[in-house]
Amino acid sequence: MYRLVFSQVLRRFDAEAVHHLTVSALALLARLPLLKRLLHRALAPHDPALRVTAFGVHFPGPLGLAAGFDKDAACAEAIAALGFGHVEVGTITAHGQPGNPRPRLFRLVRERAVINRMGFNNAGAHAAARRLSRPRSVPVVVGVNIGKTKVVPEAEAAADYVASARKLAPLADYLVVNVSSPNTPGLRNLQAVSLLRPLLTAVKEVCDATPRRTPLLVKIAPDLADEDVDAVAELAMELRLDGIIATNTTIRHEGETGGLSGRPLKARSLEVLRRLRAKVGDRLVLVSAGGVEDADDVWERILAGATLVQGYTAWIYGGPLWAARIHRRLQRRVRRHGLKSITEAIGRTA
Ligand SMILES: Cc1cc2nc3c(=O)[nH]c(=O)nc-3n(C[C@H](O)[C@H](O)[C@H](O)COP(=O)(O)O)c2cc1C
Repeated sequence: MYRLVFSQVLRRFDAEAVHHLTVSALALLARLPLLKRLLHRALAPHDPALRVTAFGVHFPGPLGLAAGFDKDAACAEAIAALGFGHVEVGTITAHGQPGNPRPRLFRLVRERAVINRMGFNNAGAHAAARRLSRPRSVPVVVGVNIGKTKVVPEAEAAADYVASARKLAPLADYLVVNVSSPNTPGLRNLQAVSLLRPLLTAVKEVCDATPRRTPLLVKIAPDLADEDVDAVAELAMELRLDGIIATNTTIRHEGETGGLSGRPLKARSLEVLRRLRAKVGDRLVLVSAGGVEDADDVWERILAGATLVQGYTAWIYGGPLWAARIHRRLQRRVRRHGLKSITEAIGRTA
């Protein structure tokens, strides 16, 4: 049904217009507690066999929505009600900013991919904090992904991240330092250990000072050289971070400028995950994102060492029930393998 709606209607409209319409519809759903609760009961993962605990946080299922969809933390509860096990909101910057000029979001339908150069369009940390403080009527694990405000120079990047962390870490189930988006000039330079060390150290201090000691993760690009992936992993262990999210979008592609996501990213994302697992074992939580399309992909990432898995692009093509469908299939797979919990599968092929 969704496939028909997508091919006959949605794909004829500008991708970003459809995106905003979807966010508005979900924000409306977020204001309808009864419907939201009914959907949550029907679609969210409830099987104890799918539960995952990572860095002290309980997730109802391993598959979450990657950053970039709910940039302003407007509809996380509604997204959870559709079956996602967590929602990573953002990227949020200390100061609100409009992002890059439109058009900046492009579908590559045949490749099951998307190119975006949104440029962290968001209303800023203060507005997000207000939204995240509202009471909730369905349970949702919310990760908060923070990035650098575009106009802030590289030398002041750490202070800019710290300003966001101060407002958002107390409201987040986990915080992510995003240094890997390709659409903010110079941002990915911050992945160099010499710049990343002071930045992560400063943000970690803020996270450690919150009442719940907010877990801190770093999100990396698939375009890092293998040695740089190792260097970030070593740094994350040295600084006692809680985990690594791998990966963001890739700039290795032709066509429109921006980051490519979806199916073409699958192989490299899995490769980076395997490399990280070989390096860190189970000392850090690994969150795998990039080209995850179905239950087979989620299972493969878990076997390769991911504790949590995220998707975004495949949701665009798979429709609103995408995550609920995958969790249902994972539930059957856990039983078929005679496991009591999906967590028993983590790292089995690593
Ligand atoms: C339209 C779009 C916007 C994105 N915006 C962000 C962002 O703001 N911050 C971020 O860390 N990742 C962002 N991402 C990257 C995703 O979180 C994810 O890492 C990447 O798309 C790979 O997953 P996928 O292949 O399942 O889409 C964005 C992706 C897309 C498609």
